[in-house]
Amino acid sequence: MRRGVLLAGGLGTRLLPATAVVNKHLLPVHNKPMIYYPLSVLMLAGIREILIISTPRALPLFRDLLGDGGSLGVRIAYKAQPEPRGIAEAMILAEDFLDGAPSMLMLGDNLLYAEGLPRVLRTRSAACEGACLFAYPVRDPERFGVVSLDGAGRVRAFEEKPAAPRSNLAAIGLYLFDPDAPARAAALTPSARGELEITDLARGYLDEGRLDVECFGRGVAWLDMGTPASISEASEFVRTIEDRQGLLICAPEEIAWRNGWIDDAAFAELADRLAASPYGAYLRKLLRADPMDRGS
Ligand code: TTP
Repeated sequence: MRRGVLLAGGLGTRLLPATAVVNKHLLPVHNKPMIYYPLSVLMLAGIREILIISTPRALPLFRDLLGDGGSLGVRIAYKAQPEPRGIAEAMILAEDFLDGAPSMLMLGDNLLYAEGLPRVLRTRSAACEGACLFAYPVRDPERFGVVSLDGAGRVRAFEEKPAAPRSNLAAIGLYLFDPDAPARAAALTPSARGELEITDLARGYLDEGRLDVECFGRGVAWLDMGTPASISEASEFVRTIEDRQGLLICAPEEIAWRNGWIDDAAFAELADRLAASPYGAYLRKLLRADPMDRGS
């Protein structure tokens, strides 16, 4: 079974002073900590074993927040990344946890939201034998890892922040890797900026013709939350949809319950702990709803 790796370290320098003592991924995005959004994506993909990687200083806070994952019907393990030596380093740090399993790696500051996303992720995850990127059209591709495709829709190139992008497709912070990824990452050399680059790791698969891509279209929201403005935008996006629909975006408790990973009693306990907030009241209300209305 594929296992999840959630990368939530880094320095968060673009958010200083908000990140002077608090890890970026614990900051609120509307009504929940940032990390709930990528954690939810992994859970929606059906992943029940998850490694959270963060700084030695922040790790105890993640542990306080999420524990061993048991209350969500998942297993959460933790690993320190002493210095932000690059996204590909996550694969090296995850080697023991993965124990020969394939992985889904997600960056802790990415929000991904779309109708039908669980189906797409589960299908890709089941079909991917090497590595897989998820691409998304953006107005300013030069700020991202850029994926260009050949006429048959296969990956032709994957370049980190190219000055002259060959397409408008950015690679979002979500990757699938086969069990070889930790060994491949360990063999990489750091880039000029001193990091093990995810583009270099993926390029190894590309050179062997084993790099798949899933291109998302308009009906998908992908936001990263690395700057004050982008956190505000993401918060406003979540608030707008949630207020309109009366449904929460990326509540891990709800996902665990709907996935059948926790029963009604365990779900009620989680809801009661949050009872003072609208978030808790929402979870409580779900349980009281007619089973026919519990919906998707
Ligand atoms: P970045 O946004 O590139 O870096 P950062 O979070 O440290 O922020 P800043 O640029 O403001 O200093 O990182 C993208 C995501 O990957 C983010 O969720 C943090 C995570 N990350 C790590 O956990 N370890 C790393 O070594 C790197 C490079 C990133």
